Amino acid sequence: MRIEGISHAALEVTEAGVVRVLDQTLLPHQVVWRELAAARDAENAIREMWVRGAPLIGVTAAFGVALAMRVDASDASLQAVCSRLLATRPTAVNLAWALGQMTQALRTLSEPSRAVAALTLAKGLAAADVAVNHAIGAAGLPVLKAIHDRKGRVDILTHCNAGWLATVDRGTATAPIYAARDAGLQVHVWVDETRPRNQGASLTAWELGQEGIAHTLIVDNAGGLLMQQGKVDLVIVGADRVTAGGDVCNKIGTYLKALAARDNGLPFYVAAPRSSIDREIQDALCIPIEERSPREVTHVQGLDADGILRQVQVTPHGTRVHNPGFDLTPARLITALITEHGLIPATSKHIEDIFKEAHNYA
Ligand code: MRU
Repeated sequence: MRIEGISHAALEVTEAGVVRVLDQTLLPHQVVWRELAAARDAENAIREMWVRGAPLIGVTAAFGVALAMRVDASDASLQAVCSRLLATRPTAVNLAWALGQMTQALRTLSEPSRAVAALTLAKGLAAADVAVNHAIGAAGLPVLKAIHDRKGRVDILTHCNAGWLATVDRGTATAPIYAARDAGLQVHVWVDETRPRNQGASLTAWELGQEGIAHTLIVDNAGGLLMQQGKVDLVIVGADRVTAGGDVCNKIGTYLKALAARDNGLPFYVAAPRSSIDREIQDALCIPIEERSPREVTHVQGLDADGILRQVQVTPHGTRVHNPGFDLTPARLITALITEHGLIPATSKHIEDIFKEAHNYA
């Protein structure tokens, strides 16, 4: 997608072979690319949230493995880098998925061939992510078109950032929105600010603005009122992990939007690739929920009057904070999952069915 009119991906490999990522902790105020020169840089990029969003975390980890293989391609090194990367962020299952893909393929290869193969594999996962997101967009487009045919525009509410910044490109929740824009539909997005880190305010608003998509920023608690007032046609969010039965773990606050949507008779869609589905987990309460730093709640980041990026404290000194990063939306509140294999009901049977399909986009 575009930054100041120029096409970019959230993770790029330059012609010189340099792996670089956009530092999302500085957006929307500064566009800074950071080089990943070693596996430790990839670990750091995920831990410090230069990159975030389930699919992008997975792809960055794959490049982390590739960087480790350049230095030491032994089984011990492969195992060590995977366990360090896995520990960086516990909730998004795409991380374990991508590491699984890398390990499975590399283990069968001789050590001397692993470095080159690992880079090719990581590039393959990045390319597959983009293809998957385009397929998600195509699957979601008819939903938006049906609403547009009826009322001449579509108002979508989204939470957090499941846009191109959360993937390699195109996004998941945003993919149908970009597809609708490309099809000439009039779309408008209500963007939840998404406290505490404000991924909606700082990332979604920025990327939609760069793409020229009409959007309005709202505080997290405004969505319910807007639904009651008929200003929202549907909700589309992403997912960090989907259980075998179709329950969805996503950014904290997602569940409350699903409840409000149900109370107002509005469709609630979750756009997610197959790599976000954890078939091992039946009970959503077993998903590890990341407890994030209290500082995310006690402080906010922004520009001061002189245009300097600063963090300021908004709470009394010493306030006790609990900061779970994600919540759980039961399958019964989800109208459908928008996947690269089409729109499917959030049920175990339909989820199992898409794993029988051969096409894996890699
Ligand atoms: O903590 P973050 O910013 O990594 O959380 C991101 C989300 O919750 C996204 O909605 C999710 O990862 C899906 S991204 C396509």
